[in-house]
Amino acid sequence: MRDHIRFYLGDTLYDLSGFSPTLTVLDWLREQRGRTGTKEGCNEGDCGACTVLVARLDGGPPDGPRLAWRAVNACIQFVSMLDGAQLFTVEDLRAPDGTLHPVQQAMVDLHGSQCGFCTPGFVMSMVAYRKQPGAVAEDGPIDDALAGNLCRCTGYAPIVRAMKQAMAAGSDRFDAQAAAIADRLSALRDGQTVNISGPAARLTIPADADALAATLLADPEATIVAGATDVGLWVTKGLRTLPHVVAIGQVPDLKRLDRTADGLRIGAAVTYEDARDALAGLLPDAGEIVRRIGSTQVRNAGTVCGNIANGSPIGDGPPVFIAAGATLHLRRGDVRRNMPLEDYFLAYGQQDRQPGEFVEGVTIPALRQGQVFRAYKVSKRFDQDISALLGAFALTLDDAGTITDARIAFGGMAATPRRARATEEALRGHPWSEATLQAARAAIATDFAPISDMRASDWYRRTVAANLLTRLFAETAPGARRPETRLAGRSEAAIHA
Ligand SMILES: Cc1cc2nc3c(=O)[nH]c(=O)nc-3n(C[C@H](O)[C@H](O)[C@H](O)COP(=O)(O)OP(=O)(O)OC[C@H]3O[C@@H](n4cnc5c(N)ncnc54)[C@H](O)[C@@H]3O)c2cc1C
Ligand code: FES
Ligand code: FES
Repeated sequence: MRDHIRFYLGDTLYDLSGFSPTLTVLDWLREQRGRTGTKEGCNEGDCGACTVLVARLDGGPPDGPRLAWRAVNACIQFVSMLDGAQLFTVEDLRAPDGTLHPVQQAMVDLHGSQCGFCTPGFVMSMVAYRKQPGAVAEDGPIDDALAGNLCRCTGYAPIVRAMKQAMAAGSDRFDAQAAAIADRLSALRDGQTVNISGPAARLTIPADADALAATLLADPEATIVAGATDVGLWVTKGLRTLPHVVAIGQVPDLKRLDRTADGLRIGAAVTYEDARDALAGLLPDAGEIVRRIGSTQVRNAGTVCGNIANGSPIGDGPPVFIAAGATLHLRRGDVRRNMPLEDYFLAYGQQDRQPGEFVEGVTIPALRQGQVFRAYKVSKRFDQDISALLGAFALTLDDAGTITDARIAFGGMAATPRRARATEEALRGHPWSEATLQAARAAIATDFAPISDMRASDWYRRTVAANLLTRLFAETAPGARRPETRLAGRSEAAIHA
């Protein structure tokens, strides 16, 4: 058992105890370390002004550890989540002899900054992007990498140009230090549970899932924090105090992503970004849905299971996974139970989870023979926006084009993510034809009675839900006319042609 956390800020090792488990990285940097280069804009993960770079050793046997670099929003990360990591801020970029980092130099050369408030955040996202395996100097992936950074004055074109110039600049000084960083992070791995009791609050970082189970059994009121992309806002915007934080983001056995005979099992600490390729390979559209969850910074921290556990009616993952037929794995002490994911969501703000119980993982089955799968996210902005609604559809078609099975789930249409049972019934056993489509469009009006809120009116939600069925028909019905139904990946010129 350890009673302090250990991490590096730049090249300096910090042993910390006696701090609040909900002290944000941003407040610690600015108020206690004087690193004011990291800016506070929105304080809720939206603007990217606070972006910092976190290096961690990922993985283990059989592939061995891998040094991973991730941009995250310091405003909604807690210092308690940094155990075992190396944190870099914009102050770390310039070499000791004053030479600018290639990204900084490119921003200067190509006029990527005016007022400069957003600039440190952009620069950190750009440094992080250069470090991603397979990063390319192309507009689409660069836009994705920078979608979580807002700029009010410069305009994005010079920043994207700067990114491209920086990509061509070769390695940076962190590349030269990679082996040394990996060694020092490896030395921090001691496999111990961390327990820090302060006067007002307590922090536990369990060494493994067993330690997590025991901690929650002993204190069922403790707050689980995975990526803190929801919980962070409870603190910065809700001003909540959390008496006992249990940080699970680095629990090794919960970070596993396993292909089993049942499909893809995603552990409770796997982030959206780390699950993205596997999900994209498993279900058509899942990769695109993940790409549109928050921003790179949000996906680098937010977990797939946190998106389920929070019970939000507008979480993007749950409807996709419900339509695919996912199974949720829950654990309380040594007792485990599995349930169809849709059964977990009981009512608004109420889930089928007992005190002391936690989500250990979720298994998403692969598509079966004859199954087609589509998922559509509808939001006001294309990037970095919460869904107005999201529809996910799994149809099984036989050789004659008859729908033998249908699983349809929606988010944003009810108080929880929910199956569209009447619509499924209208499809099952019928040929996938124009007449069946019309029956399904009528049925979906009976499945849901959505509310109006700032994201969409009830009329809009009902209309779009029915129209998503029409889109599904156009994309999947045998012999249907195939109009262009996707904007993603098309150039602006092609869209307006
Ligand atoms: C700027 C921004 C943009 C966002 N955009 C989107 C979006 O486009 N789509 C979307 O769906 N979401 C979005 N979110 C919401 C959020 O990122 C996701 O819901 C995320 O997946 C939550 O995961 P987390 O690990 O950060 O959860 P946390 O914040 O750590 O936890 C969320 C809740 O789940 C509980 N919890 C976490 N893990 C477990 C577990 N294993 N067992 C039991 N309980 C657990 C926590 O106690 C808490 O109640 C956005 C958030 C931000 C800040
Ligand atoms: S301050 Fe806006 S994302 Fe952190
Ligand atoms: S340069 Fe002013 S906000 Fe980006």
